[in-house]
Amino acid sequence: MESYLVSSIRHSSTIDLLKSSVYCRYLNTLAKLKTKKDFSAQIKILLHKMTLEEKIGQMNQYSGFYDATGPVPEVGNASLKIEHLKKGLVGSMLNVTGVDKIRNLQRMVVEESRLGIPMLFGFDVIHGLKTLSPIPLAEAASWDMEAIEKSARVAADETSASGVNWTFAPMVDISRDARWGRVMEGGGEDPFLGVQIAKARIKGFQGEDLSAHNTIAACAKHLAAYGFVEAGREYNTVDIGTNTLFNIVLPPFKAAVESGVSSVMNAFNILNGVPATGDRFLQRQILKEQWNFSGPVVSDWGSIRELVIHGYAKNLEQAAQQAINAGCDIDMESYGYIKHLVDLVQEGKVSEKLIDDAVTRILRLKFELGLFDDPYRYCNNKREKERLNHKDHHAAVLDIAQKSIVLLKNENNLLPLKKDQDELLIIGDLADDKNSPLGSWRIASDDHTAVSLLEGIHQYIAKYTFEQGPKIFDDSIGFRDEFKMMGSDEEGIAKAVTAAKKAKMILMVMGEHAFQSGEGRSRTSLDLPGDQLKLLKAVYEVNQNIVLVLMNGRPLTIPWAAEHIPSILVAWQLGSQTGNAIAKVLFGDYNPSGKLPMTFPRSIGQVPIYYNHFSTGRPQKIHEVFWSHYIDEENSPLFPFGFGLSYTNFDYSNLKIKVSKTKGVNVLVNVRNCGDRQGEEVVQLYLHDRVASIARPVKELKGFKKINLAPGETQEVEFTLGDAELGFYNHAHEWVVEPGKFDVMVGTNSQKGLTGRFTWV
Ligand code: NOJ
Repeated sequence: MESYLVSSIRHSSTIDLLKSSVYCRYLNTLAKLKTKKDFSAQIKILLHKMTLEEKIGQMNQYSGFYDATGPVPEVGNASLKIEHLKKGLVGSMLNVTGVDKIRNLQRMVVEESRLGIPMLFGFDVIHGLKTLSPIPLAEAASWDMEAIEKSARVAADETSASGVNWTFAPMVDISRDARWGRVMEGGGEDPFLGVQIAKARIKGFQGEDLSAHNTIAACAKHLAAYGFVEAGREYNTVDIGTNTLFNIVLPPFKAAVESGVSSVMNAFNILNGVPATGDRFLQRQILKEQWNFSGPVVSDWGSIRELVIHGYAKNLEQAAQQAINAGCDIDMESYGYIKHLVDLVQEGKVSEKLIDDAVTRILRLKFELGLFDDPYRYCNNKREKERLNHKDHHAAVLDIAQKSIVLLKNENNLLPLKKDQDELLIIGDLADDKNSPLGSWRIASDDHTAVSLLEGIHQYIAKYTFEQGPKIFDDSIGFRDEFKMMGSDEEGIAKAVTAAKKAKMILMVMGEHAFQSGEGRSRTSLDLPGDQLKLLKAVYEVNQNIVLVLMNGRPLTIPWAAEHIPSILVAWQLGSQTGNAIAKVLFGDYNPSGKLPMTFPRSIGQVPIYYNHFSTGRPQKIHEVFWSHYIDEENSPLFPFGFGLSYTNFDYSNLKIKVSKTKGVNVLVNVRNCGDRQGEEVVQLYLHDRVASIARPVKELKGFKKINLAPGETQEVEFTLGDAELGFYNHAHEWVVEPGKFDVMVGTNSQKGLTGRFTWV
C-alpha cells in the first residue's frame, strides 16, 4: 500500500498533485501507515518535488509583522515578507501569536504557495504565555522537577492554544556571572541541576506526543557558552577551555538532545575565536554527529549577519556559506540564506546535500507536529478562549511560585507573620507593583496583571499601612524600552521613616525591576538599585523589626542587609501569582523550601563566584600574604549555592556509604524534621574526586532529593552513584571514570553537610 502511494505520487503530474490538498492527504495516509514515527518516505517525496529555491525557503525564518525581539534589518519590510510567504519561501515565522493572525499567515502559505508546505510558528515562551510562571532562575530555586515540568506544561497548553507550535525555550545556558542579565532565563550555575531542569522543561513543553494539539516543540539554546560572556556584558566574547566547555556548558545540551528536544538554537557569541553560529565543531561535529541530533538548528536573531561584524565573514554571502557549512539550518532574520544560498549552491560553494539535510530536519519537525495532517491544528478559537489564563494554570503557577521563594535569614523567628497581626507597615515601590513581578520575558502577556504583594497580603490581613517610600522604578517601562532609574527622593525616604517610627512590624519590599534583567540588561553592580539601601538603612535606624522581601532577577550583593535585617526572603519575579505566593510564605501557609541556584556574592569583585571551583595551589592561609585571597574581601560567598532555610529545622545523621563494583556507590542518610512544622528539604549530595588525570572541582553536585517531612518525622534518603556521577570529560573530550578516592558530602547546602569518603576501584 505504501509503495503504491509513493509511486503514484512520483508518477503524477507535479502541478496537479502538489496544487491539490489530495497531496497532503496522501502524505497523511502515509503518516498513519507508519507505526514508528519515521517520516523519511514522505520527506523524500517532498524533497524530490521541491525546487532549490523552495528548499532554501524552508530554511528562511521571518519575524511577524507585529513585534520584534531584536534589531530589525533594513531589508525586513512587510511587502517583501508577504511576497516570500506566497511563493513558499518562508519555512517558519516568529513573534506571531493569536489564532486569527496565525491562521491568516498559514493560509497564505498553504493555499497560495506552489507546494503549500505549512509553516512553523516560533515564539519566546520563556516563562509562560499569558499565565506567567516565575522567571526560570526562580523556578530553578524550587529544585522541584515535577513543578517545573508542570509549569512548562501550562506554557505549552496556552502557547499551542494561541496558534504557536514552537517555543524558543528552554535556555539551558549555565552562567556564573550575575552581571549577565540573562541569568534570569536559565537554571543557574550548576550543570547537574541544569541537566535536570532541561529535561523537566522539555518534557513539559513536548509531552509524550509532539503531534498532540496541546504540546509544542522545544528549543535548547544557546549553543554554546553564551552564559560565559566576558565581564557579564551582553553579547560579549567567550573564551573558555575545553574543561569548562565539556564539563559545565555542554551537559544540559546533551541531556536536552537525549530527552528528544525538537530543535537547538545557536548563539550570538564568539567562542574561542569562532562565532558560535559559524562553528562547525559545535553544530556539526558535536551536536549532529556525536550526539546524533536529528532536528533543526536555528540561528539566533540576525546572528548569521553578525558573522560579518565579528570579522569572521567578509560579507553576508560568505556568512551564509559559513553558517550552513557549520550546521545552522534556519536563518532567523538575517536574510542571508534567502539572498545567497541559491547562488552559493549553483557556484558549488555549498553542497546541495547540506541543503537537503537541513530541509529534511525542518520537514521532519513539521510532520512530527502534525502540520501535514492539519496545518491549522493549533488554530482553534474556542480552545484559545478557554485555555489562555485558565484557572488551573494559575493554580499551577502559584504552586511553583511559592516553591521558588528562598528564606535567607530568619532571626528570632520573625517569620511567619501572625495571621491575626493587628498592624503591619509595608514600605517599598515594588510592593504595589503589578508589572515588574511578571518578569522580563513575557512579550505575549498582558502588562500590569500580576497579583501585587499588597493584594496578596490583603487576603490575609485588613489592617496594614502602605508607604511607597521613594519612587525607584518607572513602571510605564516596557520590554523594549531602555531602563532608566528614577532620581533621588529625600521626601519619600523621610515619609517612610516617619511611618516606621510608629510601626510594630515592617515589611520592606525591594530589589530590581524586571526590566533590569533579561536580554540586553547586563549590570556592573549587583547592589540594590537606586536609593533602596539608603531607605533600608534609614528605616532600620528607627525600627529594627524588619522583614525584607527581595524581588530580583539575579543574585544581588546585600551584605549590609544580611548583617542587620533579621528576616530576608528572596522572592525573585514570580509571575502572575506573585503576591499570593509571597503572602502564603509570609503568613506561614507555605513553609519556604527554595534553595539558591546561584551563589550570592559579598561584592561584585568576587564575580564570577561559584561553588564548584577548583582548588588553587594555596587555598589556605599558609602565609600572611602569599595565599589565594583578596586583601579587601573574604573569599566565601554571602550565601552559597544550594542555600535556603525553612520555618522548621532538619537534622542530618547516620551517613552510610556502600561501594559495589556492579551496583555502584550507595549513599544513605537520615534526615529528621526536628521542628514543629511540616516542611520540605532539598537533600543535596556533593562529590569530590581527590586526584584525577585532570584536576577536579572541590565539590560537584551529583544528586538531590526534595523530601517532605512532618514534625518529628525521619526519612532515610538514598542516592546511587554510577559512571554518570563519577566520571568527567578529560582533555581529549572523552568521558572517563577513573579509579581513586572520592569525598562525599550530603547536606542542606553546598557548604554544610555530613562528610564521608570511598574508594572506587
Ligand atoms: C534573541 C535571543 O537571544 C533568543 O534567545 C531569542 O529566542 C531570539 N532573540 C528570538 O526572539
